[in-house]
Amino acid sequence: MKRFYITTAIDYVNGSPHLGHAYEKVLTDVIARFRRQMGDQVHFLTGVDEHGQKVQQSARARGIPPQQFADEVSAEFRALLPRLNIANDDFIRTTEERHKRVVRQVLQQLFDKGEIYQAEYRGFYSARQEQFLQDKDRNPDGSWPEIYGEVTEITESNYFFKLRQYQDWLVDFLARHEDFIFPRFRQKQVLEFLKEPLNDLCISRPRERLEWGIPLPFDEQYVTYVWFDALLNYYSAVADRPGTWPATWHVIGKDILVPPHAVYWPIMLHAAGLPLPGGIIAHGWWLQSGAKMSKSLGNALNPLDLVTEFGPDAFRYFVIREMNVGQDSDFTREQFLVRYNSELANNLGNLVNRTLNMTTRFAGGVIPTAGAPEEAEQELQALWARTRDEFLPLCEGFQFHTALERAMTFITATNAYIERRAPWKLGKSADPADQARLRTALATMAEALRLGTALVAAVMPGAAAKINGVLGYPPGATWTDELVWGPRLAGRKVAEALVLFPRPQPAGPAPAKP
Ligand code: MSP
Repeated sequence: MKRFYITTAIDYVNGSPHLGHAYEKVLTDVIARFRRQMGDQVHFLTGVDEHGQKVQQSARARGIPPQQFADEVSAEFRALLPRLNIANDDFIRTTEERHKRVVRQVLQQLFDKGEIYQAEYRGFYSARQEQFLQDKDRNPDGSWPEIYGEVTEITESNYFFKLRQYQDWLVDFLARHEDFIFPRFRQKQVLEFLKEPLNDLCISRPRERLEWGIPLPFDEQYVTYVWFDALLNYYSAVADRPGTWPATWHVIGKDILVPPHAVYWPIMLHAAGLPLPGGIIAHGWWLQSGAKMSKSLGNALNPLDLVTEFGPDAFRYFVIREMNVGQDSDFTREQFLVRYNSELANNLGNLVNRTLNMTTRFAGGVIPTAGAPEEAEQELQALWARTRDEFLPLCEGFQFHTALERAMTFITATNAYIERRAPWKLGKSADPADQARLRTALATMAEALRLGTALVAAVMPGAAAKINGVLGYPPGATWTDELVWGPRLAGRKVAEALVLFPRPQPAGPAPAKP
């Protein structure tokens, strides 16, 4: 079995989860489920980033100790996972001992190798971004951009990781691994960034300024810079699982690609003598009226509201169908409802209902054996063959939005097939040829529904399980075999009805909460 280790970014626990966080988990879960279907041995890690200035500040604002604050908010992030039907294998918190131990080990190892040195640092510091700034970060008029918040000049002694000496190595590595970052245009941005000389990375924060972090093993007066600590979660979580590292893919948002994931992380691993991950998938942002959804902007839509209202399957379907991985997408409730109504309720939901209803009415609830296919069946089967052949490479290339579009086209064609065959008319005919056509039509719609369901199973696992349930069908172990058109359903007893996506919802504002 092929080993497949996939991770999400670990979320800061300085505020509640929002759509951006939920999307990343769903996207990663869809990839993980797809790889499991393809027979890989998947390990899926997600978690939370609990140290650093932001968490310390948020805890202070609430007047509680940072650990208590982190416990509360982490619980919220963790609770989101089952509600989104995320099948992760592990969940890591950076305050866990298993993580801190590995961070200390790696720091000590790098220190012993001479990769870390102490130096006096004088410079401009942004508390909001937790980073030192350089003149090139200034606005043309010399002021500091908004995003840095208050900027102060400070002098302090700190520890530095020798990043610069690995710059040429990294450029060379990226040249040799053209597909390291998905989508590809982002790899070009990294190379652009690497045209400027790198500075060594300040990896310590004096404890008088920041208490909430992992003390440096070689100098307890300092805690570890939060990014150095956080990135190591991907490794620390599997340090005790031989054969799991390296990660196959890290899934992250585009805002944390350069420099943390594309520059610091590969260099940290290389310096520590650890294998590099297979690649990084950098997804885009969910926007609301063109602005990034974020805690600080206060425009964050609570994903749980939509999940509560429409269920995890509809939510997952929407975010995967709507977003082209790597691009940004605008989130509106209206667009959600358009897709919900037209693609889920009226298309897939309708096919399920018609199949159950007609099998019950015309065949006593038992799926018949198909007779010889006529033109209508041949056309649908030919479309199936094309759909399946396109679907797998689309998923392997993370083009899930297009893959889902193809799946929906096939469902639409199946509904059109039913219109064309009109079993309700065939059912009235006493002609044995029409009776044979009716049996073939019932068998064909059920088989097409089974196949369409197999395609959307990674995105809508709950709905897929329910559909297979009402078809009386337990899917086999090998997914690709399941995608072959055949007589598997003949003789199975179907349920009479299934409400998957309750009646089409009127477009408009969310119903008032009681
Ligand atoms: N703690 C760091 C990541 C450390 S990884 C070793 C962090 N946390 S975060 O909570 O700010 O963001 C977590 C993830 O959510 C990031 O990948 C980020 O890109 C993603 N999103 C946050 N807001 C987003 C949107 N509006 N849209 C899509 N995803 C975005 O960064």
